[in-house]
Amino acid sequence: MASMLSSRDVSGFKFLFFIAIMYAIISLLVHSVLHMKFIKPLSIDAPLDRFSEARAIHHVAVLTKDGRQEGRPGLRKAAVYIKEQLEMLKERAESNIRVEVEETTINGSFSMIFLGHSMSFAYRDHINIVARISSADVKETDPSVLINGHFDSPLGSPGAGDCGSCVASMLELARVTVESGWIPPRPLIFAF
Ligand SMILES: *[C@@H]1O[C@H](CO)[C@@H](O)[C@H](O)[C@H]1NC(C)=O
Repeated sequence: MASMLSSRDVSGFKFLFFIAIMYAIISLLVHSVLHMKFIKPLSIDAPLDRFSEARAIHHVAVLTKDGRQEGRPGLRKAAVYIKEQLEMLKERAESNIRVEVEETTINGSFSMIFLGHSMSFAYRDHINIVARISSADVKETDPSVLINGHFDSPLGSPGAGDCGSCVASMLELARVTVESGWIPPRPLIFAF
């Protein structure tokens, strides 16, 4: 059959082949730029002014040792751990940055629709931990930025993703804020 192809056909096929190869190379390039560009996770001993994924993962490891469902001791332990971390930041903060930590215990209830069913939940003696990081000359009326995440975990799960990872990121973010020397122009409120 090959002998039946004219030299024009052959160069035509060569050109088609060339286009196909170029298309493949460009597709790979675009794919790698769009989907494969991950930020390199930083280790536990990364500089203190950088967000370290390893330090965040360490928080997740501590938080997921016990279940943190409402009423279980793990929930209280998590609250103690979060508060300790924030108190540590308070001690390390320079004089131009203010860190305030507060713990509140509340009772309450809420209703929601889940899978078409109406449900009501009630909780008692639930601990919330709040930290405000601001410049030393903050005024009580300054508008703030709220960053929040829940540290209780869903039923039957250690809750690494829901929402240990949020809490861990918040703790690392709070630490970076205090230890980077950056003064937030507006107070940051971390509500756990
Ligand atoms: C929450 O409920 C418990 C038990 O009913 C009660 O002892 C406690 O004082 C309540 N706390 C608040 C903040 O209302």
